[in-house]
Amino acid sequence: MMEKEMRRYVALELQHHVSHSDFVGINASDINYSAGRYDPSVKPPFDAGFEGIGEVIGLGLSASSRYTVGDTVAYFGSGAFAEYTVVPAKESVPVPSAKPEFLTLLVSGATAYIALKRLGDLAKSETVLVTAAAGGTGQFAVQFAKRAGCHVIGTCSSDEKAVFLKSIGCDRPINYAKEDLAKTLRKEYPQGVDVVYESVGGSVLELAVNSLATKGRLIVIGFISGYQTASGIPPFKGGTLPVKLLQKSASVRGFFLPHFLGDYREALTSMMQMFAKGELVCEVDCGDMAQEGKFVGLESVFRAVDYMYAGKNLGKVVVEVAPPNVGDSKL
Ligand SMILES: NC(=O)c1ccc[n+]([C@@H]2O[C@H](COP(=O)([O-])OP(=O)(O)OC[C@H]3O[C@@H](n4cnc5c(N)ncnc54)[C@H](OP(=O)(O)O)[C@@H]3O)[C@@H](O)[C@H]2O)c1
Repeated sequence: MMEKEMRRYVALELQHHVSHSDFVGINASDINYSAGRYDPSVKPPFDAGFEGIGEVIGLGLSASSRYTVGDTVAYFGSGAFAEYTVVPAKESVPVPSAKPEFLTLLVSGATAYIALKRLGDLAKSETVLVTAAAGGTGQFAVQFAKRAGCHVIGTCSSDEKAVFLKSIGCDRPINYAKEDLAKTLRKEYPQGVDVVYESVGGSVLELAVNSLATKGRLIVIGFISGYQTASGIPPFKGGTLPVKLLQKSASVRGFFLPHFLGDYREALTSMMQMFAKGELVCEVDCGDMAQEGKFVGLESVFRAVDYMYAGKNLGKVVVEVAPPNVGDSKL
């Protein structure tokens, strides 16, 4: 009953229309959410997807003071994989147009911006290692670390991604499919790295811990290498972790975006300004180079997720939502 009332209230707040020019974002954790790892109380069928961008087609009473029909808004919240969706006005952000680039900022950009700001303690000339650097959130971590005056190392799995990383300021892209990551770090960074923005987990996390410099900070952003397993957690040999941290006065810090919503508005405003001034690259991958073609329509969401897990994406994976048949409309 409570939930029904909540939903009705939300429906009164604000309705968005997601039309043919609109987009939803794919995130590594979409499969964690659908596996019930985010909220075990949610039982199927439930809506997946964390973010979208679209046009307002209807407004509730309170929402009409802030928005008008026809506005473009971006929204961050669960259930975004939909042609039409209902979003509380306070969870949406006005954007100048329905460009997919704005979508990259909601989760991927905000994660890098806030995590590095709050937990990175970046100082000029420090060395920062970003794993999965050419992906949705990695591309932003590279650029924000560079803006802070750091030397940036980024891991990726292809030469094309390495070229992209160079183009956004990464000093040392490492294509780990060709170069041994451990050997390269040992040889070229014998003093270790000051900060790690770590998204892969398992053996990469172990290597990153071992590569920390004295007073190094490792930010646990994710552990994608385990998400496709039953537990969702990759194996990690952490028995000697306290010793390693003590010996280097180093630290391992976890970051989860929903815990930092107090920083969210400032982060989005600042990133949108950088983008408008041409100071921030928001690389989008709509699957133009994917085997079965561009990601269009909600039915291509699963293809887009597979593409990401095959390590093929360069930038943020985005699906264009096709115009629904009028007869199928939920409105
Ligand atoms: N903590 C938070 O609040 C938060 C918020 C957003 C995202 N994240 C985390 O950030 C990470 C990246 O997420 P994203 O959505 O931005 O994805 P993404 O970086 O756009 O895509 C994932 C990338 O990871 C690599 N990868 C894919 N499957 C892998 C596997 N099985 N093992 C190792 N590497 C694999 C691939 O890059 P290469 O092939 O080039 O290595 C792929 O391009 C994830 O760990 C995610 O959980 C955390």
